[in-house]
Amino acid sequence: MTEVLSVASEVFPLVKTGGLADVAGALPAAVAPHGVTMTTLVPGYPAIRAALGDARPLHRYDNLLGVEAQLLESRLGSFPLLVLDAPALFQRSGGPYGDSHGVDWTDNWRRFAALGRAAADLASGLLSDRHYDILHAHDWQAAMGAAYLSYAPLSARRAASVVTVHNIAFQGRFDRAIFDFLGLPPHAYAVEGVEYYGGVGFLKAGLYTADAITTVSPTYAREIRMPEFGMGLQGLIATRQDIVSGIVNGIDPAIWNPQTDTDLVKRYTSATLANRKTNKTAVEAGFNLSPGDGPLFTVVSRITWQKGMDVLAGQLDVLVAAGARLALLGTGEAALEAQYRAAAARHPGRIGVAIGYNEKISHLLQGGADAILIPSRFEPCGLTQLYGLAYGCVPVASRTGGLADTIVDANEAAVTAGVATGILFDGVTGERIGDAINRTVALYGQPAVWRSLQRQGMKADFSWQRSGARYAALYQGLLARAQA
Ligand code: ADP
Ligand code: GLC
Repeated sequence: MTEVLSVASEVFPLVKTGGLADVAGALPAAVAPHGVTMTTLVPGYPAIRAALGDARPLHRYDNLLGVEAQLLESRLGSFPLLVLDAPALFQRSGGPYGDSHGVDWTDNWRRFAALGRAAADLASGLLSDRHYDILHAHDWQAAMGAAYLSYAPLSARRAASVVTVHNIAFQGRFDRAIFDFLGLPPHAYAVEGVEYYGGVGFLKAGLYTADAITTVSPTYAREIRMPEFGMGLQGLIATRQDIVSGIVNGIDPAIWNPQTDTDLVKRYTSATLANRKTNKTAVEAGFNLSPGDGPLFTVVSRITWQKGMDVLAGQLDVLVAAGARLALLGTGEAALEAQYRAAAARHPGRIGVAIGYNEKISHLLQGGADAILIPSRFEPCGLTQLYGLAYGCVPVASRTGGLADTIVDANEAAVTAGVATGILFDGVTGERIGDAINRTVALYGQPAVWRSLQRQGMKADFSWQRSGARYAALYQGLLARAQA
């Protein structure tokens, strides 16, 4: 058995703000069939502490980057879970990264350096009865784990490290002044270390020190070598190219399956697609939409620049003029949220907007809407198009990152061959999005073609089977190298 410590700042179903939680929650089961036991380490936020009940303390820190902390042992479903309980850092109301107004906590450097420090300790033999072969750190919040590990005293029990980039736009950049509190040797403050543009970069440090780097789709793995996508880290990614790979995310069939989904009013398979009508009626009722002949689009997304939500907001009149409707669920930038609310007021019965985060409604939208719009400027993998494919909710998306890798565009050749699963467009501009909306409306008007798009999507295999095997092979390759 290969023992892996997976470290993440969120994990479904305990704490989720985005796709990272879904992936961290699904990985243990994904790699289990391939000889990997995965333990997950997460911060002890209030929601996690509340879900734990009486967890067993495994280790106590009198001073972990200036605070008292302990490591608690629990379970995530049937898999092992470790919780870094540090009340001074994690017991506060608000979200995992900021207060209830979305303002980042000013001590995020200490919170996530502490997470990394604890991860590195565990991965270098802190507990005499646990051994980890691999430390797998997700995103900047966990990336310091790899850095601390690389500066830890060499011991035979030290794990190899993998850093996965779920989104290179979030880098964990802090002022130079925090370096003195990180407990790293002075020489670590260098280009060959944690220094990043005159400050400290957590993701940079992880990418520089990791034994392997992955990201969540092959296309994004290529894109982040370029300045438009690498956001300052393209040079580092390019020099470490031989250890970078792209492994596309899967979806958890226990949670996302229209045949068994209890959040749907009516469940269905590709043979009973007509049942979706009942869910559509529920969406219409919930979003105050009048019935109509054109397609019902949905958006389930963070309302942000990354997701192209500013450009889409400018095309809503086009969408309505084409005879379509929209039900949007999301939260994000206040100014953009206001634009969507205003569009709903302008087009009563045609555009319905729910500002908020609601897991249950997100399932109903996938099971009731006809098409899901994903006009992202960049998208490392994207999960909502995968849920859309599985639910017969046809994705309409920009050709970038994981969207390009998982959707087959309905061009004429693909439609004729019966292999198309969605609509892809190039470039996130108003004109391109408008064209894609019109193309979708036209395809929806051809019921046989539309059914074929839905059925092909539902047939596609986005289970964790293949990607679970790829992560396992990566871990086992690193282990073999370490033992050689
Ligand atoms: P990202 O992680 O960049 O936000 P992904 O597509 O990878 O994008 O994952 C987003 C996840 O968050 C999906 O599971 C999606 O269903 C969910 N989600 C996004 N916004 C909402 C919302 N307002 N309510 C419920 N779920 C949401
Ligand atoms: C990030 C990315 C998203 C990806 C998710 C899970 O949030 O923005 O594209 O699907 O991580 O890997």
